[in-house]
Amino acid sequence: MPENIPHQIMKLQAVNLTRKFDRKIIFDKVNFELTSGSATAITGRNGSGKSTLIKIIANILLQSSGELNLFNGTEKIKKENIYKYIGFVSPYLNLYDEFTGYENLKIISDIRGWGHENIDDSLKRVGLYHRRNDLLKIYSSGMKQRLKIAFAILHNPHMLLLDEPTSNLDLEGISVVDDISNEYKKDRILIIATNDAHERSLCNNEINLNERKLS
Ligand SMILES: Nc1ncnc2c1ncn2[C@@H]1O[C@H](COP(=O)(O)OP(=O)(O)O)[C@@H](O)[C@H]1O
Ligand SMILES: [Mg+2]
Repeated sequence: MPENIPHQIMKLQAVNLTRKFDRKIIFDKVNFELTSGSATAITGRNGSGKSTLIKIIANILLQSSGELNLFNGTEKIKKENIYKYIGFVSPYLNLYDEFTGYENLKIISDIRGWGHENIDDSLKRVGLYHRRNDLLKIYSSGMKQRLKIAFAILHNPHMLLLDEPTSNLDLEGISVVDDISNEYKKDRILIIATNDAHERSLCNNEINLNERKLS
Protein backbone atom coordinates (compact mmCIF):
# COMPACT_ATOMS: atom_id res chain seq x y z
CA MET A 1 0.00 0.00 0.00
CA PRO A 2 1.05 3.61 -0.49
CA GLU A 3 1.81 5.30 2.77
CA ASN A 4 -1.32 5.97 4.71
CA ILE A 5 -1.95 9.63 4.16
CA PRO A 6 -4.19 11.03 6.90
CA HIS A 7 -7.54 11.77 5.36
CA GLN A 8 -8.26 15.44 5.74
CA ILE A 9 -10.35 17.77 3.64
CA MET A 10 -8.52 18.30 0.37
CA LYS A 11 -8.71 21.56 -1.52
CA LEU A 12 -7.74 22.22 -5.14
CA GLN A 13 -7.37 25.90 -5.88
CA ALA A 14 -6.78 27.48 -9.29
CA VAL A 15 -6.04 31.18 -9.59
CA ASN A 16 -5.92 32.79 -13.02
CA LEU A 17 -4.85 29.53 -14.62
CA THR A 18 -3.83 30.09 -18.22
CA ARG A 19 -2.41 27.73 -20.82
CA LYS A 20 -0.99 28.61 -24.22
CA PHE A 21 0.47 26.38 -26.86
CA ASP A 22 2.99 28.55 -28.67
CA ARG A 23 1.13 31.85 -28.87
CA LYS A 24 -2.33 30.33 -28.97
CA ILE A 25 -4.31 30.83 -25.77
CA ILE A 26 -6.23 27.63 -24.98
CA PHE A 27 -7.86 28.96 -21.82
CA ASP A 28 -7.32 32.18 -19.98
CA LYS A 29 -7.52 33.06 -16.29
CA VAL A 30 -9.60 30.13 -15.07
CA ASN A 31 -10.44 30.28 -11.35
CA PHE A 32 -11.95 27.63 -9.14
CA GLU A 33 -11.79 26.10 -5.69
CA LEU A 34 -12.88 22.49 -5.21
CA THR A 35 -13.01 20.57 -1.95
CA SER A 36 -13.50 16.96 -0.87
CA GLY A 37 -17.09 15.81 -1.28
CA SER A 38 -17.61 17.39 -4.70
CA ALA A 39 -17.96 16.24 -8.29
CA THR A 40 -17.04 18.70 -11.02
CA ALA A 41 -17.50 18.43 -14.76
CA ILE A 42 -15.00 20.25 -16.98
CA THR A 43 -17.04 21.01 -20.08
CA GLY A 44 -16.54 22.91 -23.32
CA ARG A 45 -16.48 22.29 -27.04
CA ASN A 46 -13.89 20.03 -28.71
CA GLY A 47 -10.53 21.69 -28.45
CA SER A 48 -11.60 24.04 -25.62
CA GLY A 49 -8.87 22.63 -23.39
CA LYS A 50 -10.63 20.08 -21.17
CA SER A 51 -7.90 17.45 -21.52
CA THR A 52 -5.23 20.15 -21.23
CA LEU A 53 -6.72 21.41 -17.95
CA ILE A 54 -7.12 17.94 -16.44
CA LYS A 55 -3.48 17.13 -17.36
CA ILE A 56 -2.37 20.31 -15.60
CA ILE A 57 -4.40 19.26 -12.52
CA ALA A 58 -2.72 15.83 -12.72
CA ASN A 59 0.65 17.59 -12.81
CA ILE A 60 1.73 16.02 -16.09
CA LEU A 61 1.60 19.34 -17.94
CA LEU A 62 2.41 22.83 -16.65
CA GLN A 63 0.26 25.91 -16.87
CA SER A 64 1.68 28.90 -18.78
CA SER A 65 0.71 31.23 -15.94
CA GLY A 66 -1.44 31.34 -12.86
CA GLU A 67 -1.36 29.19 -9.76
CA LEU A 68 -2.66 25.73 -9.02
CA ASN A 69 -2.34 24.29 -5.54
CA LEU A 70 -3.57 21.18 -3.80
CA PHE A 71 -3.99 21.25 -0.03
CA ASN A 72 -4.39 18.40 2.44
CA GLY A 73 -6.06 20.24 5.30
CA THR A 74 -3.97 23.38 5.54
CA GLU A 75 -0.81 21.74 4.23
CA LYS A 76 0.15 22.61 0.65
CA ILE A 77 1.22 19.47 -1.17
CA LYS A 78 4.58 19.61 -2.90
CA LYS A 79 4.43 19.12 -6.67
CA GLU A 80 6.59 16.00 -6.49
CA ASN A 81 4.11 14.34 -4.11
CA ILE A 82 0.92 15.12 -5.99
CA TYR A 83 0.84 11.73 -7.73
CA LYS A 84 0.25 10.06 -4.35
CA TYR A 85 -3.08 11.83 -4.02
CA ILE A 86 -4.31 11.51 -7.58
CA GLY A 87 -5.85 8.79 -9.70
CA PHE A 88 -6.10 9.69 -13.40
CA VAL A 89 -7.96 8.01 -16.24
CA SER A 90 -6.92 9.48 -19.57
CA PRO A 91 -6.99 8.58 -23.26
CA TYR A 92 -3.34 9.69 -23.25
CA LEU A 93 -2.27 7.10 -20.70
CA ASN A 94 -0.21 4.31 -22.25
CA LEU A 95 -0.38 0.71 -21.08
CA TYR A 96 1.99 -2.09 -22.00
CA ASP A 97 0.62 -4.35 -24.76
CA GLU A 98 3.17 -7.13 -24.20
CA PHE A 99 2.13 -7.67 -20.57
CA THR A 100 -1.01 -9.02 -18.96
CA GLY A 101 -3.59 -6.86 -17.20
CA TYR A 102 -2.28 -8.02 -13.85
CA GLU A 103 1.35 -7.37 -14.83
CA ASN A 104 0.48 -3.86 -16.03
CA LEU A 105 -0.86 -2.97 -12.58
CA LYS A 106 2.06 -4.71 -10.89
CA ILE A 107 4.61 -2.75 -12.96
CA ILE A 108 2.91 0.53 -12.06
CA SER A 109 2.77 -0.44 -8.36
CA ASP A 110 6.46 -1.32 -8.42
CA ILE A 111 7.42 1.96 -10.10
CA ARG A 112 5.44 3.87 -7.47
CA GLY A 113 6.74 1.82 -4.55
CA TRP A 114 3.36 0.38 -3.60
CA GLY A 115 2.57 -3.18 -2.56
CA HIS A 116 0.47 -5.52 -4.65
CA GLU A 117 -2.37 -6.18 -2.22
CA ASN A 118 -4.89 -3.87 -3.91
CA ILE A 119 -4.37 -5.22 -7.43
CA ASP A 120 -6.85 -8.09 -7.25
CA ASP A 121 -9.54 -5.89 -5.68
CA SER A 122 -9.08 -3.20 -8.32
CA LEU A 123 -9.35 -5.79 -11.10
CA LYS A 124 -12.51 -7.22 -9.54
CA ARG A 125 -13.96 -3.76 -9.14
CA VAL A 126 -13.76 -3.11 -12.89
CA GLY A 127 -14.82 -6.63 -13.87
CA LEU A 128 -11.46 -7.74 -15.30
CA TYR A 129 -10.30 -10.24 -12.69
CA HIS A 130 -11.17 -13.25 -14.86
CA ARG A 131 -9.09 -11.75 -17.72
CA ARG A 132 -6.15 -10.67 -15.55
CA ASN A 133 -3.71 -13.15 -17.10
CA ASP A 134 -4.48 -12.24 -20.72
CA LEU A 135 -2.00 -10.08 -22.62
CA LEU A 136 -3.14 -6.52 -23.10
CA LYS A 137 -2.74 -6.80 -26.86
CA ILE A 138 -5.82 -9.03 -26.96
CA TYR A 139 -7.89 -6.73 -24.72
CA SER A 140 -10.73 -4.85 -26.42
CA SER A 141 -10.73 -1.06 -26.19
CA GLY A 142 -13.40 -1.27 -23.47
CA MET A 143 -11.27 -3.71 -21.47
CA LYS A 144 -8.28 -1.38 -21.78
CA GLN A 145 -10.45 1.45 -20.54
CA ARG A 146 -11.49 -0.67 -17.55
CA LEU A 147 -7.84 -1.41 -16.81
CA LYS A 148 -7.08 2.32 -16.79
CA ILE A 149 -9.82 2.75 -14.20
CA ALA A 150 -8.34 -0.09 -12.10
CA PHE A 151 -4.96 1.66 -12.36
CA ALA A 152 -6.47 4.97 -11.21
CA ILE A 153 -8.08 3.54 -8.05
CA LEU A 154 -5.20 1.22 -7.14
CA HIS A 155 -3.86 3.47 -4.37
CA ASN A 156 -7.24 4.66 -3.11
CA PRO A 157 -6.52 8.28 -4.12
CA HIS A 158 -8.01 11.41 -2.54
CA MET A 159 -8.69 12.99 -5.92
CA LEU A 160 -9.96 11.13 -8.97
CA LEU A 161 -9.55 12.70 -12.41
CA LEU A 162 -11.46 11.15 -15.30
CA ASP A 163 -11.06 12.27 -18.92
CA GLU A 164 -14.03 10.91 -20.92
CA PRO A 165 -14.15 7.82 -18.69
CA THR A 166 -17.06 6.02 -20.32
CA SER A 167 -15.66 6.15 -23.86
CA ASN A 168 -15.53 2.62 -25.32
CA LEU A 169 -17.43 1.16 -22.36
CA ASP A 170 -20.49 -1.08 -22.54
CA LEU A 171 -23.45 -0.61 -20.19
CA GLU A 172 -21.87 -2.69 -17.46
CA GLY A 173 -18.61 -0.71 -17.79
CA ILE A 174 -20.56 2.55 -17.56
CA SER A 175 -22.14 1.35 -14.33
CA VAL A 176 -18.64 0.62 -12.97
CA VAL A 177 -17.76 4.28 -13.65
CA ASP A 178 -21.05 5.37 -12.06
CA ASP A 179 -20.42 3.35 -8.88
CA ILE A 180 -16.82 4.53 -8.50
CA SER A 181 -17.80 8.15 -9.22
CA ASN A 182 -20.63 8.05 -6.70
CA GLU A 183 -18.33 6.55 -4.08
CA TYR A 184 -15.50 9.04 -4.65
CA LYS A 185 -17.63 12.17 -4.73
CA LYS A 186 -18.90 11.50 -1.22
CA ASP A 187 -15.70 12.45 0.55
CA ARG A 188 -13.07 13.14 -2.12
CA ILE A 189 -12.56 15.39 -5.11
CA LEU A 190 -13.95 13.98 -8.35
CA ILE A 191 -13.32 15.76 -11.66
CA ILE A 192 -14.63 14.56 -15.03
CA ALA A 193 -13.60 16.19 -18.33
CA THR A 194 -16.52 15.47 -20.59
CA ASN A 195 -19.03 16.38 -23.26
CA ASP A 196 -21.22 13.42 -22.47
CA ALA A 197 -24.58 14.13 -20.85
CA HIS A 198 -24.47 11.03 -18.69
CA GLU A 199 -20.95 11.73 -17.34
CA ARG A 200 -22.02 15.30 -16.67
CA SER A 201 -25.04 14.08 -14.71
CA LEU A 202 -22.68 12.42 -12.21
CA CYS A 203 -21.39 15.88 -11.25
CA ASN A 204 -22.88 18.68 -9.18
CA ASN A 205 -20.58 21.46 -10.29
CA GLU A 206 -19.24 22.64 -13.66
CA ILE A 207 -16.21 24.43 -15.06
CA ASN A 208 -17.24 25.50 -18.53
CA LEU A 209 -14.20 26.37 -20.64
CA ASN A 210 -16.32 28.07 -23.28
CA GLU A 211 -17.25 30.65 -20.68
CA ARG A 212 -13.81 30.36 -19.09
CA LYS A 213 -15.18 30.75 -15.60
CA LEU A 214 -16.75 28.60 -12.91
CA SER A 215 -20.49 28.60 -13.49
N1 LIG B 1 0.92 19.38 -27.30
C1 LIG B 1 0.17 20.30 -27.93
N2 LIG B 1 0.74 21.20 -28.79
C2 LIG B 1 0.01 22.14 -29.40
N3 LIG B 1 -1.32 22.27 -29.26
C3 LIG B 1 -1.95 21.40 -28.45
C4 LIG B 1 -1.24 20.37 -27.74
N4 LIG B 1 -2.13 19.69 -26.98
C5 LIG B 1 -3.34 20.24 -27.22
N5 LIG B 1 -3.24 21.27 -28.10
C6 LIG B 1 -4.32 22.13 -28.55
O1 LIG B 1 -4.98 22.66 -27.42
C7 LIG B 1 -6.38 22.76 -27.67
C8 LIG B 1 -7.12 22.04 -26.54
O2 LIG B 1 -6.93 20.62 -26.66
P1 LIG B 1 -7.60 19.61 -25.65
O3 LIG B 1 -7.23 20.04 -24.27
O4 LIG B 1 -7.26 18.25 -26.07
O5 LIG B 1 -9.16 19.92 -25.87
P2 LIG B 1 -10.46 19.08 -25.43
O6 LIG B 1 -10.02 18.01 -24.51
O7 LIG B 1 -11.36 20.10 -24.81
O8 LIG B 1 -11.06 18.57 -26.71
C9 LIG B 1 -6.62 22.20 -29.06
O9 LIG B 1 -6.68 23.27 -29.96
C10 LIG B 1 -5.39 21.36 -29.29
O10 LIG B 1 -5.10 21.28 -30.68
MG1 LIG C 1 -10.18 15.96 -24.52
